[in-house]
Order: sequence, then structure tokens, then C-alpha cells
Amino acid sequence: MSDILVKPARTVQGTFSVPGDKSISHRALILSAMADGKSKITGLSDARDVASTRRCLETLGVKISTLKGGTVAVAGKGKYGFRAAKGPLDAGNSGSTIRLLSGVVAAQPFTTTITGDESLCRRPMRRIIEPLERMGAHIESSVYKAPLVIRGGALRSIDYASTIASAQVKSCILLAGLYANGTTRVTEPSPSRDHTERMLEAFGVKAHFSQSGAGVQGPATLQACDIDVPGDLSSASFFLVAASLLADSEITIEQVSVNPTRMGIYDALSAMGAMIQTSPAVTLQGEPRADLSVRSARLHSAALGGSMIPRIIDEIPVLAVAATQAQGTTVIRDAGELRLKESDRLTAICKNLQAMGANVRETKDGMIITGPTSLHGAEIESYDDHRIAMAFAIAGLIATGETLIKNGSCTEISFPGFFDLLDRIRHD
Ligand code: S3P
Repeated sequence: MSDILVKPARTVQGTFSVPGDKSISHRALILSAMADGKSKITGLSDARDVASTRRCLETLGVKISTLKGGTVAVAGKGKYGFRAAKGPLDAGNSGSTIRLLSGVVAAQPFTTTITGDESLCRRPMRRIIEPLERMGAHIESSVYKAPLVIRGGALRSIDYASTIASAQVKSCILLAGLYANGTTRVTEPSPSRDHTERMLEAFGVKAHFSQSGAGVQGPATLQACDIDVPGDLSSASFFLVAASLLADSEITIEQVSVNPTRMGIYDALSAMGAMIQTSPAVTLQGEPRADLSVRSARLHSAALGGSMIPRIIDEIPVLAVAATQAQGTTVIRDAGELRLKESDRLTAICKNLQAMGANVRETKDGMIITGPTSLHGAEIESYDDHRIAMAFAIAGLIATGETLIKNGSCTEISFPGFFDLLDRIRHD
């Protein structure tokens, strides 16, 4: 745990890449482990959350090795080759790890306990417990929070109308559905990221997916597949905002995921007047990637809500920072889910923006930000939440004076090397 001091910058410049997409990395490890045969993964994220998924899978008996050059090889166990863990699986800080793996262990003929850190143990798990129990699993928990004790067994298919747009919930059910007889379907109020569906197809499983939801036909087997993970657009978003806000900036971020279900940050920033260009996309294993180039621009306010929210769910902290520099009033609504992330992100964003002098008001499901206002350096509480720490590091670049990010090193959860990269591209 260390605090990090951020000084103002004049501009950001350069061509660089960001670590592999975290969501795709979790899925690459899990689907490779469930497949028959050996899969190789290039570009796997080195984030702490992804290491949690790897460790859980290793505890379930999966052999995973890192080869020269960083390629990761996974010796697939097949869907039923996992062995019962001796102790609890530790998902650390990672919601994707606990929710996706719960869908897999719910179908195993043994009991698994899965837990995580203090933050993860506060997050809601009813959203996966209910559908998995409807499929036939038995799950014990205290008030629907981790640790979860999952008594696995034979599952049946379901048609599930989720009341929240959550890729973690959808993916948990789809993974469990691979073990059930018949079609398992999930519908959602608006589309969430579809990486699981795309990667299932790469592993030879027919997944049906559209704007309204996704389905798999069980039982299905997965065939090993080599996966190349594109750069993480959520990690890139901090630099998209920095380059937009700082004068004379020009950056190119190479080979970033441009999956349409993740492109909300591009759409939102473009609607605010940002100058972002994408190179022609190349699709590998179902996932498109492209270079993103950004130049400084004068931003104006936008309305962010409705079906846009799941597409910017992880980018709202840094979009809020951008909104403080935009002309007019930006209203963010329908974002109540942000209270249920690694921290209550609505409160975290608003308190920290207020500490820096922004004109911001927190609402029940979002916030109202009027700009432009000049920000001043302040002591920032990260709440041990990686995306809050990184968003306020960007705020620190455009502020006057110094900004201290308390436990800024929590950025390792999704983006090891974030501050080093920032130091490389900043000019003072
Ligand atoms: C993720 C889905 C999102 C996102 C999280 C990663 C995933 O969560 O916030 O960082 O990998 O499926 P929800 O789907 O629960 O909103």
C-alpha cells in the first residue's frame, strides 16, 4: 500500500500499448481450463485480478505455465477434470473471478468455497446465487455475500430474465449452461459486454447472442484454442481523457479492443467533442482490435444514461473527470450499479472531485457536473479502488499544485505499470 504523488503536466505525447484486456483475460484462462487440449494465450493481462483467476484455477488442479516471452499455456482439463480444492478459492478483489468461476464450480461433483478480500465480500452475490440455485446448485452464504459455499452437481437449463445488465451475471449463467441439458438463455435490460459469447465460439461452442441476450445449448464441449488478447480499452480510457484535456497532446494507443459492447467511452468522448481516430480493425478469435489516436480538443457536456451505462460502466470515473473540463452541464444517470463496484464509485468520484474544487452534485443514480472549472491538487482517497486511483491521477495532471493519491498503488489490480507509463508520456 503506497501513496502516490501526481504533479501537473503540460502535455502527453507518444505511441504505446496498454496491458491485455482484463475481461478477455479472465475468460481466456477459464475457457482454456474447461477445454479439451492445450491452449496458448498471448497478451494476457498481468493485472492482480487476472492472477486471482489463475490461482483459483491452479487450486482446482489446472496446470498453467508462463513460457518465454510471456505466452501463457493452459493444459485444459475438460469440463469435468477439475479437482476439489483443499481450502477456499481466493478471488481477491475480483468480481469477474468469483462470479464467472461460481458458474463453473456449481456444476462440479464436489463442494467449493470461494471468497475474496474485504471489498469483494461486501459486494452483492444474490445476482448469481438465485439463477444458479434455479439451475439446481446449492449455495450457502451469509446474506448473499462471499464467502460462498457452493455444493455443485447436475444442473438444468434455464431461461433467465436478469433485471440488471451485468456481463458477470450473464457469463456465470452461460458457463453453468454449458453443463446443463437444453438451451440456457439470459436476457438483460440492455446489452452488457459479450466477450464470453465471442470466446465460446472460438472454442467451438455455438453461442447465440443478440442485443437482447445470449444463449448456449448444453451439454457442450470446448476445444482448445489459442487466444491473442487485445489491449484493454478501459485502461486506455485514462489516456484518452488525458490527451483530450492537456493542450498540444497527441498519442496513439496500439491494438486496443474495439469490441462494440465496450466502445461507450469512444462514443461518449466523441459526443463531447473529443478527437479520437481508429485505424481499421483486425478481428482475432472474434475480438476486434485497432489503434486509437487522440489529440487535444475542447470538450462540451453530454447526457450519459440508459443503455449507454453498461457500455461505460468502468469508464465513468474518468469520464466524470473529463466532464469537469467540458463546457456545460453533464448529467450521468441510471448508474446506480456504480455503488456496488470495488467501492461506492458514485460517492468516491463526487467526494474527490469536490476536494479538487469541481462543481459536482451526487444524485441517487449518478451525478451532475458543471464545467469547466479549474481543479486544484488535493489529498485523494482511492478507497483502494483501482479505477478511482487512476481517474484521479488524470485529474492531478490537469490540476494546479500536487495531488496525493492515497494507496495509489492499488492500480496494480487492473493496470500494473500505470504510473510508469504515465511518467513516460508526460511532458512538464
Ligand atoms: C466485467 C463486467 C462488468 C465490469 C467489470 C468486468 C466482466 O461488471 O464492471 O469490471 O469482466 O464481465 P458487471 O457486468 O457486473 O457490471
